[in-house]
Amino acid sequence: MSLPYAEVIGDPITQSKSPIIHRHWLQALGLQGDYRHAHVTAEGLEAFLATRRDDADWRGCNVTMPHKQAIMPLLDALDPLAEQVGAVNTVVRGEDGRLTGYNTDVDGVAEPLSALLSRQDAHAYIIGAGGAARAAIFGVSRGGAATTSIFNRTAHKADELAVLARAPSGKGHPLADLIPTESNSHIIVNATSMGMGGQNPVPVDLSRFAADTIVFEMVYAPLETPLLAQARAQGLRTIDGLAMLIGQGAVAFEKFFGAPPPRDNGDAALRALLTA
Ligand code: ATR
Repeated sequence: MSLPYAEVIGDPITQSKSPIIHRHWLQALGLQGDYRHAHVTAEGLEAFLATRRDDADWRGCNVTMPHKQAIMPLLDALDPLAEQVGAVNTVVRGEDGRLTGYNTDVDGVAEPLSALLSRQDAHAYIIGAGGAARAAIFGVSRGGAATTSIFNRTAHKADELAVLARAPSGKGHPLADLIPTESNSHIIVNATSMGMGGQNPVPVDLSRFAADTIVFEMVYAPLETPLLAQARAQGLRTIDGLAMLIGQGAVAFEKFFGAPPPRDNGDAALRALLTA
């Protein structure tokens, strides 16, 4: 009997936690299906898609480094949001073999943020100017932020993303300028690898930010980054890196397997598996 399956593709790939997430949900729903790691190099990407396109059991894949942009021209269709973001993290195979690219990282940012954000006038400070920051721009906007500005080590990349984010100043900012300049409520998003094991922490003094600031961390190893530890010590609201990982996976899961995953109890059982 054939078994529907999906995968996560990248190079390297064994570090990806997506198989743990999707297998947990398949099991919880009692669905027949599988979700695997697939090591796909940049040179092998086109041939990989050609093979999977002909595989009626293959529901699609999640896409991680270094393929999120390179895969776009190899697909038959792009969801408009993925096109705007300029990156694809989910590919879905239609019954006719057509491959459509989506960006569910945006949902992974928007979902936990909208659950916390109660004000209409929040300003988002996005730290970083790579692919994760591009998803964050659209995610904070969908999640309820009114305006956005971009802070990055490399100035010209921050300027490019400031245009995408329709930043009020029209320009990006150096990391050193990460201080509250607006009088409304604040969201701070770390979309860099700063704070990851062995790397420098995000250089920001959160004591300067208002008490209703939300700190959104995309790094999940370690789960308690120096930025999150500082935010908690200040009594600020926080969203950790697993929230985005699980949120983007949930939207992809439904596209692959046709049913929404169970999201009970704040994903407690899944979080326990991911942090074991
Ligand atoms: P991703 O697709 O995960 O966003 P990326 O495109 O390589 O990855 O982007 C990494 C981001 O983290 C960039 O904004 C990078 O800053 P630069 O544009 O200046 O390279 C940022 N970053 C990584 N390490 C950093 C560090 N040690 N200090 C400051 N910024 C860092």
